[in-house]
Amino acid sequence: MLAGKSYLMIPGPTPVPPAVVAAMSRPMIGHRSADFADLYRRVADKLRRVCQTSNEVFVLTSSGTGAMETAVANVISRGDKVLALITGNFGERFARIARAYGASVVEVNFGWGGAVDPQVVADYLRDREIKAVLATQNETSTGVANDIAALGRLLADHPALLLVDAISGLGGMDIRTDEWGVDLLVGASQKALMLPPGLAFVTVSPKAWRVIERNEGPRFYFDLQAARKAQANWNAPFTPAVSLFFGLEAALDMILAEGLPRVFERHALLAAAVRAAVRALGLELLAPDEHASHTVTAVVGPEGVAVDELRRVLYSRYGVSVAGGQGVLRGKIFRIAHMGFVDRADVLAVLAALEMALAELNYPVALGSGVRAAQEVFLGRRQS
Ligand SMILES: Cc1ncc(COP(=O)(O)O)c(C=O)c1O
Repeated sequence: MLAGKSYLMIPGPTPVPPAVVAAMSRPMIGHRSADFADLYRRVADKLRRVCQTSNEVFVLTSSGTGAMETAVANVISRGDKVLALITGNFGERFARIARAYGASVVEVNFGWGGAVDPQVVADYLRDREIKAVLATQNETSTGVANDIAALGRLLADHPALLLVDAISGLGGMDIRTDEWGVDLLVGASQKALMLPPGLAFVTVSPKAWRVIERNEGPRFYFDLQAARKAQANWNAPFTPAVSLFFGLEAALDMILAEGLPRVFERHALLAAAVRAAVRALGLELLAPDEHASHTVTAVVGPEGVAVDELRRVLYSRYGVSVAGGQGVLRGKIFRIAHMGFVDRADVLAVLAALEMALAELNYPVALGSGVRAAQEVFLGRRQS
């Protein structure tokens, strides 16, 4: 491996484009200045376009979990009944945060590798006492994408709010906040938005504001009413990560210049190529095709190969970082992310390295078969 040369194919942090790095190296400005206010106003406008919403959007200086906590803390009061739809690690985390804020959480677990079944959710929603539904758009721990549009339809005539963790989908997969009826959409900087870690986002619907204004539950750093008050002057209640705001504008400009439909197509194509390659190599995909994430692909560890050893060879010999499994899937899967500043050549390089690493670990692999399958997808000669 060449020093400083690497392929960061983990589901966040992800590669940061040179234009974003350059923007972040600008001289500092005061966060109470007119310059920052202008920047925040522009960034919020661009972020709303990426979130496909006309709702208010807040940029928080925190990791993604902070935005999940913001969503929960602001709308859930002690004792509220909350429906948590779980398909893996991050769905479990959402439920744990709600419990920490005193919610009475009804967990519906579709299994790690499974997807939310809207029919099952419809049954639970006969209970009109449910105050909020917690869902994960893209379950990063399993590479499963959930049907948020279907959940929105179910909630159209239900009093509950729809809270969606779109942290590893936003900027890579279609998420129509308004059209799908998402009340609080949560995102983070270090995924498909191509920034370093440190910023998180939350959009808030008018229906959610009505709940927030009545909610007397505890919150301080993540108080959306304080954020709204500050934002009236395009300010943040506490010192924001100013350099990341510079980078955010550059990243949003890139996404909007490429155009959302093309960004989504690119991610779908990369996912299809990775899935085709995995199949051609005789390996097993964790997520079924109909629920496959477009930003991260989970691969079941091949028979006779220790996943951590495979990851070690990939990194030490080829500079390729892929993620391991989390929770119950630790040691059982590895995850190749293809989100954000990633293109076809990155995917081909990583697949070639994967084949070589497998061969070095004596796994019977037909060299070139995975790369070829991906190339065929890219050339439009194969689906996935
Ligand atoms: C779907 C999802 N939710 C939540 C998180 C947590 O975000 P953070 O680590 O930025 O707090 C992640 C991070 O990987 C994620 O992928």
